[in-house]
Order: sequence, then structure tokens, then C-alpha cells
Amino acid sequence: MQYNFDECPDRRGTESVKWDLYPGTLPLWVADMDFTAAPAILEALRKRVEHGVFGYELVPDDYFLSIGKWFSRRHGWEGIGRENIIPTTGVIAAYSAAIKAMTVPGDKVLVQTPVYNAFFPAIRNNKCVQLDCPLRYDGSRYIVDWDLFEEKTKEAKVFLLCNPHNPAGRVWTREELLLMAEICRRNGVFIISDEIHCELTYPGHDYTPFATLPQEYVRNSVSCISPTKAFNIAGIQIANLFASTPELYAKMDRAINDIECCDVNVFGVTALKAAYNESEDWLDQLRSYLYHNARAVACFLEDEMPQINVLPLEGTYLMWLDCRAALHKGEALEGFSARLGEHLRKTVGLTLSDGSIYGAAGEGFMRLNIACPRTRLLDGLERLKKGLETY
Ligand SMILES: Cc1ncc(COP(=O)(O)O)c(C=O)c1O
Repeated sequence: MQYNFDECPDRRGTESVKWDLYPGTLPLWVADMDFTAAPAILEALRKRVEHGVFGYELVPDDYFLSIGKWFSRRHGWEGIGRENIIPTTGVIAAYSAAIKAMTVPGDKVLVQTPVYNAFFPAIRNNKCVQLDCPLRYDGSRYIVDWDLFEEKTKEAKVFLLCNPHNPAGRVWTREELLLMAEICRRNGVFIISDEIHCELTYPGHDYTPFATLPQEYVRNSVSCISPTKAFNIAGIQIANLFASTPELYAKMDRAINDIECCDVNVFGVTALKAAYNESEDWLDQLRSYLYHNARAVACFLEDEMPQINVLPLEGTYLMWLDCRAALHKGEALEGFSARLGEHLRKTVGLTLSDGSIYGAAGEGFMRLNIACPRTRLLDGLERLKKGLETY
């Protein structure tokens, strides 16, 4: 079946965070997509609604089987089952519980900035201290500064990894993950791997589940997975925490219970099964559509705004734009992304994400969400061009 990603419903006035927080602007910011979910998911949810009773439910065996089969078939990750998966309400809840399980107040949690902004409150809320290990921008992409990483791990208790990385767009290679894993093991640092963007990778860049590394590293980690980003069902709120050993499982289970996020909603269970069991062709067509959207952005910028450097997109649907060339002579870099964001919103009605919310290392950058029909994306790029001309 052929899916049409060129058309999608009007989300204005639907209490959508993305569309209704800055009404009247074209929102290419928050990380959800404008596309309708896969038909199999809609059908499964419809059936569930028709049943008409929404009381508390057990999580059934076929939920765990669906996850296991999917990750085995698509990513070569074997051995997922009820004994090592803890269902929860979201990936944020999962990594927050994992931080709680592995730290005491005052411990340092290492992050590779610029990185997903909701990492920071989770660290603070667990009374831990954020330890930045900025990624190095080598002019074309972000890489790990290995010496700095080794140095920082000497101080850290936990490393909160984003694999693939939002907003840098990197899909970490097995070699890179192995090196991170080995440095962390050497320095006694536990790894929490957020893999919510794992399905959204592009040709030449394959996702490596952290849990497919050698056991000595997997035992020193947990992974947080969810179908919500890739299948555009984030509002349904469902995720899973993978813990490979009974000891780790018990620790994580305790922490998920401590934060009262151990019961999931009935629609989450239904949607996850329909996504993993019946929506693979939809996902593959979506990936191809997003890939072409990313290429369209790169071409437009090259032709029309060569001063804006866009980082090559290896994964996620979030593009990272280096806008520092738009700085006026003598203008302070500090606060620039916020000023530019405000200017774009006011003058051309375009909302992007301000790069500085992803850490100081993101100052001067803007994040662009390309998960929308191509005509809408091109409209956004035209607005960006116009907005930059008057900045
Ligand atoms: C890296 C990353 N982790 C977690 C989340 C949010 O996860 P959830 O909605 O399942 O809590 C996002 C959302 O954009 C994300 O980009």
C-alpha cells in the first residue's frame, strides 16, 4: 500500500503543543510529526474504543513478543522478553527512574551537549549535577572529543546517552558506542541509553542498539525504547525500559514504582502492538519521505542561504542549522538563538527551536523539524530566508 505523506489533517485548535502554543505561526519545532498515524494503528485503536470499557489492564504476553520480534528482525537485538522489559509511560520517565536507581543526590550525570533539553530537568529533579561533555563540531558534523570524554567520566556516576542523537542528528556507529562503553566501564560510569529515535535513520547510517554490544557493557547499562517518535503516537505515552540482568531489572522496577510510573494506558499497549506488528511498510515509506525532505532542506539552503550550514542528517527528523553567520558585527553570541527565534516568529511567522535550550553548546544554532508535508517545509524555508534577510 502507498501512503500519502503530502497531505495531513489541520492540527490547529486541537490543543497540539506544536501548533497551538504559538498560534498563527508555522510550527517546525516540537518533535512530533504532522502525519496521520499508520492505518493499522488507527484501526486497532478504533476497535479498542468500540469495546467501550477502559478499566485497568494487565500488560499481555504478546506486547513483549511484539517488541522482541521487532527488534530482532529490524535491528538484530535478540533476547527481549517480559523478564527484561519494564513498560512505563514515557522515555523521560524511564531514564529519570534509571538516574534515580543509579545515583545518590550530588552525583554527576554526564551529557553530550547540545542534547535533548528534557535530559536536564531529569538530572536536576534527581538532585544530581549535570556534567557537560560538549560534542566537537568539526565543521561538518559532531564527533566525540575522546580525551575530554575520558576526563569527564572520571568525575561522573552516570552517562545519559542519546542514541541516535537529538539534536546533532548523529547515529552513533558501533565503534563509537564501543569506545564510549569501554571508557565508561573503565571509570565505573553506568550508561543509560535513550533510543527513542532509533527507527529514524537514513541510508548509510544504521542504528546500533546499545544492548547488542558485548555483555560486559550491556550489564553496565539500561536502554529506553519506544515506538512513539517513529510512529507519531507520542501523545499516547508508552515506553519500555530494558534491563538485561535480574539485579538491574529489580533496581529499575523499584525506581519506576518509586516515581509511580509503572501502570501504562490501554491505548499505549494497543498502539505499540499495531505499530510493531502491522506498520512496518508505513514506517519504511515514512523514512524515505523524511530522507527526501532532508535532501530538500540541504538543497534549498545550499542554493538560497549558503551562509547557513546544515549538519548532515544521519537520523531523527530534526535538522540542526548553524546560523552563526547571521550574527551582526559585534553582536554577542549569547542569547542570539533566542533573539533570532523571536524575530522569525514575529516577522515571518515561523517557529523553530532555539538551539541554546539544548545546552550552551547549542548557542547560535536552530533546530528544524522536517516531519511535515514537503510543501509546508518549503514554505518554512522561504520564511526562514525572508526572516534572515531582515534580521
Ligand atoms: C531524545 C528524546 N528522549 C525522550 C523524548 C520524549 O520521550 P517521551 O515522550 O516518551 O517521554 C524525546 C522527545 O522529543 C526525545 O527527543
